[in-house]
Amino acid sequence: MKAAIFHGPNQQLTIEDVKIDDPGPNEVLVKTAATGVCHSDLHFIEGLYPYPAPAILGHEAAGVVEAVGEHVDYVQPGDHVIACLSTFCGTCDYCTTGRPSLCSNKPGRGFTGKPYYTWDDKPVFQFLNVSSYAEKMLLHENTIVKINKDVPLEKAALIGCGVMTGVGAVLFTARIEAGSSVAVFGCGGVGLSAIQGARIGGARQIIAVDMLESKLATARELGATHVVDASSGDPVQQIKDITGGGVEYSFEAIGNKRAAEQSFECLQNGGTATIVGMIPVGQKIELDGTSFLFEKKVQGSNMGSNRFRRDMPRLVDFYQQGRLKLDEMITRTGKLEDINEAFRAMKAGEVARTVLTP
Ligand SMILES: NC(=O)c1ccc[n+]([C@@H]2O[C@H](COP(=O)([O-])OP(=O)(O)OC[C@H]3O[C@@H](n4cnc5c(N)ncnc54)[C@H](O)[C@@H]3O)[C@@H](O)[C@H]2O)c1
Ligand SMILES: [Zn+2]
Ligand SMILES: [Zn+2]
Repeated sequence: MKAAIFHGPNQQLTIEDVKIDDPGPNEVLVKTAATGVCHSDLHFIEGLYPYPAPAILGHEAAGVVEAVGEHVDYVQPGDHVIACLSTFCGTCDYCTTGRPSLCSNKPGRGFTGKPYYTWDDKPVFQFLNVSSYAEKMLLHENTIVKINKDVPLEKAALIGCGVMTGVGAVLFTARIEAGSSVAVFGCGGVGLSAIQGARIGGARQIIAVDMLESKLATARELGATHVVDASSGDPVQQIKDITGGGVEYSFEAIGNKRAAEQSFECLQNGGTATIVGMIPVGQKIELDGTSFLFEKKVQGSNMGSNRFRRDMPRLVDFYQQGRLKLDEMITRTGKLEDINEAFRAMKAGEVARTVLTP
């Protein structure tokens, strides 16, 4: 099969002919119908997060089951599925207390087991349990969720990471109340999804912050009630002016130290900042110590604190009811060969999401 190979930081991915193994007892072979291009992959390509090479990147995908291992009874060939990197074991403390996205015992072959893929007879690593920049994916059964066959797979793919992450950060990590004031820093795929989560959750004020006018226009379309252009001055003061003192909830969806600090600085007393973006490894964020006397809080969010087997079909329902907008988030489509161009466009801020159809 064709797959995009990651050769190490700051190198172009190349399309190669890769051999994929047969499914093991608990594994599922999925034909990749569509894969979104998420900024997390770019952090690895830029070397801000380490990953061994060669590997097949990509982790936001939907497809059709082609074959299942002997112990798999959750799906059968022909089923439509979304992949989610939050593979769960079902037995660790996190899984059994309702927090499977934090699973500490993710099942799978790991880096030392029989390779999922080989290229020139050498092993190729799986990326974040998924590896979707490929014609097929070999996944542990606890990495997929079945969905309706009547939802287009190129829309469903976005739910696999960016949409689940953004909507989930608002509804499941922060659990905002209806009527809340919310600020979202960064209006890419994740931030736009957080804006939609805030709209679905009944936020009264939704303030979108970005450096690009085009992103702020999309943010308005998807539910922002106010926009702040961070390229033209301090967004914190503008947010305080709009809200008369600060927001109850803020979300950082960029992966930027300064924006993470600003997401804390723009809170009203008692407010909560949720950091969703991947702050580069080794970087620290600095917060004003006295703010804790005013019960300001900061927390992280992993994949929107999902329970994806329950949550992703619900997001599909929201899409089909017109309450979650996915068509508007796909600003570009392409083939596997367009992967390097997709990352260039992401860096240039030209797209909300690119979706590739291998
Ligand atoms: N926590 C998780 O589980 C999780 C899951 C998925 C993605 N992420 C992370 O979320 C972040 C966002 O991902 P994405 O795919 O939406 O990225 P993206 O590149 O599509 O969007 C980022 C947006 O931030 C804007 N931006 C950049 N610098 C800014 C600044 N200083 N102030 C305001 N806006 C600024 C850009 O113009 C862009 O619109 C990344 O760090 C990604 O790795 C985290
Ligand atoms: Zn992602
Ligand atoms: Zn577990």
